[in-house]
Amino acid sequence: MRLGVLTGGGDCPGLNAVIRSIVRKAETQFGAEIIGFFDAWDGVMEQRYSLLKTNDVRGIAPKGGTILGTRRGGPFDSNHGVANVQQAFRDLGLDSLVVIGGNGSLTVASRLHEEFGLPTIGVPKTIDNDVVGTDATFGFQTAVQIATDAIDRLHTTAESHDRIMVVEVMGRDAGWIALHAGIAGGATAIVVPEAPFDIIELTEIVKRRHVNGRYASIVVVAEGAKPKPGTLEIPPPVIDKNGHAYNGDVSRVIASELETRTGYESRLVQLGHVQRGGTPTSYDRVLATRFGLAAVDACVNREFGQMVVLRSGEIERESMKVTSGKTRTINLDLYNDVVASFIG
Ligand code: F6P
Repeated sequence: MRLGVLTGGGDCPGLNAVIRSIVRKAETQFGAEIIGFFDAWDGVMEQRYSLLKTNDVRGIAPKGGTILGTRRGGPFDSNHGVANVQQAFRDLGLDSLVVIGGNGSLTVASRLHEEFGLPTIGVPKTIDNDVVGTDATFGFQTAVQIATDAIDRLHTTAESHDRIMVVEVMGRDAGWIALHAGIAGGATAIVVPEAPFDIIELTEIVKRRHVNGRYASIVVVAEGAKPKPGTLEIPPPVIDKNGHAYNGDVSRVIASELETRTGYESRLVQLGHVQRGGTPTSYDRVLATRFGLAAVDACVNREFGQMVVLRSGEIERESMKVTSGKTRTINLDLYNDVVASFIG
C-alpha cells in the first residue's frame, strides 16, 4: 500500500501529531509506504515529496506547524492542476491520499473524489473549529488557550489604567475562538460574526460595568464580526489572492468608537497568528493522533470521499461533501445565554 499525505490551508497546532500517527500506524501495522507531499497541493502537482518512515516522525507531536509545509490554493485554481494531480497518482502508484485540511482543502479533496474518482480521505483541522460534520477540529483548543492566556494578562494592565481592551481573535466566518476564550477569560462583551453587533448596545454594556464600580473592560471581537446593517461604517475587507477576506478594521473601529462614546481610553490587541503558533495542547495532540489512526483505517478499508470526524467522543466517518461551501457556526443559544447572564 502506498499512502500519500498532505497538509493544506492555514497551519494549526496538531498537524504534526496527525502525520506522526499516520506514518507509525501505516508502516508498523500495514507495512505501507508513506509519501509526504510538501507544501500542500503544490507538492502533489509538482511531485515534490519525501518518503516518510517512523524515524522521520519521532518527537514531532509537540511541535507546532507542519513538517510538510502548507499553502493555500489547489489544483482547481490552475489550468492543468487536476491533470497534474492525476499524473502524480499514476506516477507514484498512490493507493490513497490523506488530506489534512480545513473547509477549502476538504472541498478540493471531495471534488477530486466525486468528479475524478481519486481515492482521497479527509482529516479536518483548523483553529477556527468551523468544519461541518465534526464536533471539533484539532488546533481549536490550543488557539482558545492562547487567547485565554492573553486575556488573563490583559486584565491586569487594563485594570491598572481603567482602560477598555479590545482583543481581536481569529474567526472570519464563525466566532468559536471568541466565544470560548471570551467565556474562559471573563470578557465584558463578546462579538461574533453570527450575531451582528450594535455599537450603542456595546457602549452601554461597557459603560454599565464602569458605573457599577468595576475597573476596565475586555471586549473580545472575532475578526469577522459585523455591525447591524446601517449602524456603523467599517472599511471594506481586504481580499487576498485566495479570495479570503481580512476584516482587521472592525476591531479597530470598535476600539475607537468605544473610546469616543464612553470616554474611557481604549487599546486594541490583535492576537493574529500567535493563535496558530507553537505547541499543541495535550487535548489537540490526542485528537490529532486519533484522527490520524482512523485515517489509516479509512485508507485500508477504501472509504474514499470520507473524512474522519469526532462525534460524541467517538471517531466516525462523514462524507467530505458536507463541508463544501459551508461553515459550522457557533451555538447561538449558548452565546445568548452567556451574553445575558455571565458577561458584564
Ligand atoms: O483558517 C484559519 C485562519 O487562521 C483564520 O482564522 C484566519 O482568518 C486565516 O486563517 C488567516 O490566514 P493567513 O494565515 O493566510 O493569513
